[in-house]
Formats: sequence, C-alpha cells, structure tokens
Amino acid sequence: MFEGKKLKSASIPEDESKRQYHIMAKPGDVSRYVLLPGDPGRVRKIASYWEKSWEVASHREYLTYSGYYKGVFISATSTGIGSPSTAIAVEELARIGADTFIRVGTTGALRKDVRVGDLIISTAAVRLEGTSKEYVIPEYPASASIDVVMALIAAAEELGVRYHLGITASTDSFYVGQERPGLRGYLPPFKKGLVDFLRSVNVLNFEMEAATIFTLANIYGLRAGAVCAAIANRETEEFVMEAGVEDAVKVANEAVKILCEWYEEMEKHGKKNITPDIIRDWLSKIRG
Ligand code: URA
Repeated sequence: MFEGKKLKSASIPEDESKRQYHIMAKPGDVSRYVLLPGDPGRVRKIASYWEKSWEVASHREYLTYSGYYKGVFISATSTGIGSPSTAIAVEELARIGADTFIRVGTTGALRKDVRVGDLIISTAAVRLEGTSKEYVIPEYPASASIDVVMALIAAAEELGVRYHLGITASTDSFYVGQERPGLRGYLPPFKKGLVDFLRSVNVLNFEMEAATIFTLANIYGLRAGAVCAAIANRETEEFVMEAGVEDAVKVANEAVKILCEWYEEMEKHGKKNITPDIIRDWLSKIRG
C-alpha cells in the first residue's frame, strides 16, 4: 500500500491521511479500546466473539480488526512476540486514537497453585525487557491502570473463570531470559536462579510484552492492563498449548464492555475517576 509512496517525514512515518507506517491503520479505523494479543491468529479468535467485525489492515506482524462487542466499538491488533514490536503497536495505535490497551496473551506461571489453564491478571510488571529502558529510567513503574485491572477482575468474576492477580515479569527472551536452557543446555551464570528469585519476591508469571505496554501507557497518560492464560507452569513443568486462551479472550472482551459502561457513568456523574460508588451502582444494575 505504501510502496514508493512519500511519507510525511523520516521522523513522522505516516501518510497524508495519518495512516501509520507499521500498522497501516489511520484515525477512525480503531476504537479507543484495543486488545493486544501477540499472535495475529488470536486477533481473529478475539473478533469471533464480536457481533460484527472487519479487517482494518494487515502488515508484517500487525493484523488489526475492528468491530462491535455487545454494542461497544472495539479493536484488536497483534503485536508480534516481544517488546520492540509491541512498543511500535502502542505508539502507532495511540497516534490514531486508541487510549486503552489490554494485552491478551499466554504466560508461564512460576507458582504451583496457578494451574495450567488459569488466568493471570497483572497488577504490574517487572521490567526485565529492554524496550521500556529506551523510554525512561529503570526505577519508573510498569504498573497497570487500576480501572483496567478492576474491569478485568469484574469480567473474570462474571464469567466464573479461575484467575490470579499479581506481579508479572516481562523478558526479552523466551528461553535463556526465562531461565530455560538455550541450545546444548547453555545458561549463563547470571540467569541461574532467576525463577527462584522472582518467586521469592512474589512474582507470578513470565511473559514478554506487559512491561512495555504498561510503561508506555504510564508515560503517555493512557490506560493499560493484561490478562494472560497460563499455558505453562515452571514448578510442575506442564506445558499445554492454548490452555485457557479462550477464557482470556472472553475476559478481555467483556472487560472492554464493562470499562465502557463505567466511563459512561463516570461522565454522567462528572467524576474524574472510577469511584467505588460507580462500581456499586453498576453492580446493582447488572444484578437487577
Ligand atoms: N509465554 C512466555 O513468555 N513464557 C512462557 O513460559 C509461556 C508463554
């Protein structure tokens, strides 16, 4: 689509309609609410729960769909695996109007009580990746947004799925970076004991994108959260492909509907935040 086309500038790689260089989407194409799976195939799975959906763009690892879930305008964009490509997705989606991001992924649980197939909702992420360090000092928090965390909890409760709440660690490497042996058993001394150490400081799981999404969202004043399906458990050594993914997708879609309802109430009441009163009124409304 962009072949031979002159873009605005080397520093602002978009065309005259503000179509973004990597994701190939422009303002109006996406909702303010964007779900962020790593896998393009999961974008289609997410959209299969929407009453109406269409493909917006597909370029490299970035597949974007938009549509309607229970009447709410919603989008999903795949980020690819890892933080550099994820930061590009967040940067470009935010430029075209997205302000609320929910990662929908898979994860490796560190604790035995997190069963394979359970969900993990992240409250924050340890920044073991490199991309967020391109943006800000290492002490800066990769915390999830309280509204998004609460909406994910509300959705998980409503759907009756098993979930855990806690701190995630995001790495740049699936194998050695998560203390899995590399080729021929390679593991450098500075990675030995990482799983035990993270467990000892109450970290629940490994994945590869949440810290970057949370850090960028905090820097730019956007909202972000993450719900991941535990497909692996590093204590029991189980690994079951796609375990819990369907639940993670359902919870993320439902969380968007809940957030939208909460923000409507917030505006109606002239509030700046989602207050306990707003959640209480919402609960009494949905419970009749
Ligand atoms: N994704 C990860 O990053 N690690 C796992 O163990 C499973 C999924």
